[in-house]
Amino acid sequence: MRTWLFVTFLAMAGASGSVAQDAKTPAAPNAAKQESSCILCHKQLDGPALEPTKHLDDIHMQRGLSCHDCHGGDPTKGGDEDPSAAHDERKGWKEKPTRLQVPLFCARCHGDAAYMKTFNPQIRVDQLSEYRTSVHGQRNAKGDSRTAVCIDCHGVHGIRAIKDPRSKVHPTQVADTCARCHSDPELMARYGLETNQATAYKTSVHARAIYEKGDLSAPTCNDCHGSHGAAPPGVATVAQVCGSCHSREGSLYRETEGKKPGLNLSPAIQCVTCHDNHAVHRPTDEMLGIGSKSVCTNCHGPEDKQFKSAEGMGRAIQGLSARLAEANDMLDRAERAGVEINADRFALRAGQNHLVEARVLVHAFDEERFMAAVHEGMGSAETALTAGERAFSELRRRRMGLTVSLVVIAAVIGGLVLKVREIERDKNA
Ligand code: HEC
Ligand code: HEC
Ligand code: HEC
Ligand code: HEC
Ligand code: HEC
Ligand code: HEC
Ligand code: HEC
Ligand code: HEC
Ligand code: HEC
Repeated sequence: MRTWLFVTFLAMAGASGSVAQDAKTPAAPNAAKQESSCILCHKQLDGPALEPTKHLDDIHMQRGLSCHDCHGGDPTKGGDEDPSAAHDERKGWKEKPTRLQVPLFCARCHGDAAYMKTFNPQIRVDQLSEYRTSVHGQRNAKGDSRTAVCIDCHGVHGIRAIKDPRSKVHPTQVADTCARCHSDPELMARYGLETNQATAYKTSVHARAIYEKGDLSAPTCNDCHGSHGAAPPGVATVAQVCGSCHSREGSLYRETEGKKPGLNLSPAIQCVTCHDNHAVHRPTDEMLGIGSKSVCTNCHGPEDKQFKSAEGMGRAIQGLSARLAEANDMLDRAERAGVEINADRFALRAGQNHLVEARVLVHAFDEERFMAAVHEGMGSAETALTAGERAFSELRRRRMGLTVSLVVIAAVIGGLVLKVREIERDKNA
């Protein structure tokens, strides 16, 4: 009977494929499973033995698995009296796994491709092998039970599908999941690691995009470190990690290397030296140049030719920015005064696009190419300013015209009044 039910569930889960994986799948714990002796008896216990029965909407339960599929034992025996009949070692029952055993405990199924594909043909089965490459997994294999194991990141009873917003590994929750350990000073002191990653990350443009704009395409911890292979990206691969999303910033330097044989820009393009890794903030034009907020002067001193380049590039982009702001302001004022300026906004927008392009071209480390973009931007800014000036002289002309017509009208009215008085005087006389 149970085998039959289990096979039916396998078939149902298999047939519904990835649809069944949908986080919105109704939490419909299988009534038959709830009748298993494990659940019936554990529901009457308390403390940690009761806890698992409060999470019957666990993803495993939803897929038709139950207590004994993870723990072994005989779910038909024991009624609500005799645990040992259900805790049957001949049926594979074991005590709860230790933290060192957990990875293999979960991977018994999750590493078994043939088994897992009957539930979901798309699911990955490399979690354990990836995990073993991570700092967490390597330490765990050597007997250190303090690093992360599967249940630290996913929970244990009450595991959710990863797309479910309640999952501990949903993008909106990952930072807190990692921070439980990585912001714990006592734990991290043992490994000589800082505990500032999560607080720094929470100030970043990336975190703001996720938490304030709901933009899940921005990265959280596991996007940069890997989920199961969590490791520091290592200086050599940082540009690739960031470049996987910021592809132009991550690849422009190669075009410059292509133009100038012998030039090696790999040491220069390490994103984190200029943007930080966790506290990535919105860049400002002051990062260029040689001022106090310059990032260039970290590597280029006054004796280098690049110092001069940085100075020129900084002045140029700040100049362009200021000129565009001036044009924008002028067009705004003209518009408020009622002059039609929509067409002139094109030039302004073109200028703003060149500014954005120049900000991206910083990453080419090619002064000429950068300056070309700034100069084009300047051209557009000047066009917009000229248009603004034209709008204002048009406005002055219109005002002048208005004054003249008012004077004429006043004169005509005055004349008429005089004329009327004259006629009346004539009548009276
Ligand atoms: C008749 C009651 C009863 C039944 C049936 C029963 N259990 Fe238990 N189970 C217990 C009790 C009592 C404990 C011990 C709780 C404690 O130590 O506080 C326990 C403990 C456990 C533990 C924890 C062991 C450890 O190492 O701490 C697991 C896992 C477990 N049961 C799983 C199962 C599974 C799976 C089934 C069904 C195959 C099952 N139980 C059926 C009563 C039952
Ligand atoms: C996805 C696999 C999985 C399923 C399904 C599962 N468990 Fe567990 N269970 C575990 C793991 C892993 C641990 C060890 C957790 C830990 O060390 O904190 C555990 C621990 C326990 C413990 C010991 C709790 C403690 O803190 O000492 C009990 C009791 C238990 N499970 C009972 C059950 C019961 C009853 C069910 C069914 C309602 C169930 N489990 C379903 C994986 C599972
Ligand atoms: C350091 C935290 C962490 C640990 C440890 C961890 N996971 Fe994950 N796991 C994640 C994150 C984060 C995701 C979500 C990945 C994504 O969104 O693409 C995930 C996704 C998954 C998935 C969904 C399929 C996939 O691979 O994307 C499964 C299944 C899974 N983990 C099982 C495991 C198992 C089994 C272990 C232990 C061997 C484990 N995880 C250890 C963080 C972790
Ligand atoms: C008895 C086999 C089995 C065991 C043991 C098991 N799982 Fe699963 N797990 C599954 C199946 C089957 C699914 C559903 C896959 C599907 O339909 O997408 C699943 C789903 C998951 C998911 C959701 C994956 C997704 O794509 O959203 C996570 C996370 C997960 N398991 C983690 C764990 C962890 C952590 C453990 C160890 C505590 C564990 N599992 C133990 C069989 C198992
Ligand atoms: C259960 C606690 C725990 C959780 C949860 C955890 N970690 Fe860790 N992690 C550790 C410990 C302990 C180390 C230290 C290992 C070492 O350095 O030898 C570590 C090491 C690391 C390292 C390597 C640091 C280095 O330079 O050696 C990275 C990267 C990392 N974790 C990322 C993550 C990410 C990302 C998450 C969340 C998805 C996460 N961790 C969740 C405990 C945890
Ligand atoms: C945008 C990418 C990115 C995100 C998001 C990110 N990291 Fe990092 N992290 C890095 C890079 C890059 C390094 C390596 C810096 C280096 O080598 O100088 C690093 C280093 C680390 C280290 C090694 C110790 C250290 O501080 O240098 C730990 C631990 C770590 N990160 C944890 C986390 C945690 C936890 C989160 C989420 C709260 C997180 N990271 C989010 C990119 C990221
Ligand atoms: C998973 C994709 C992803 C990864 C990986 C990633 N970013 Fe981002 N990044 C984004 C998204 C999306 C935004 C836009 C956030 C917003 O402004 O709403 C962004 C914004 C930024 C910004 C601000 C841009 C602006 O116009 O204001 C900078 C700077 C930045 N990221 C640098 C980095 C660095 C450095 C790394 C590597 C350490 C990195 N990013 C890794 C997706 C990513
Ligand atoms: C040598 C320092 C430096 C390095 C290395 C660097 N950047 Fe930048 N980044 C800057 C400067 C300077 C700006 C433009 C600031 C401005 O004028 O607003 C910028 C701007 C950005 C922007 C915003 C562009 C826009 O549209 O406004 C992103 C995104 C970005 N960088 C990502 C990266 C990524 C990804 C890497 C690594 C592949 C990287 N940066 C490496 C200095 C650097
Ligand atoms: C992490 C150190 C570092 C930082 C920070 C840095 N650079 Fe460089 N830069 C280099 C290295 C290394 C080279 C390659 C020099 C060589 O091989 O002669 C280089 C090359 C250049 C070149 C190309 C020179 C040529 O020969 O074509 C320019 C232009 C340049 N940097 C400008 C800047 C500007 C502007 C900034 C600030 C936004 C900056 N650099 C920040 C290290 C850095």
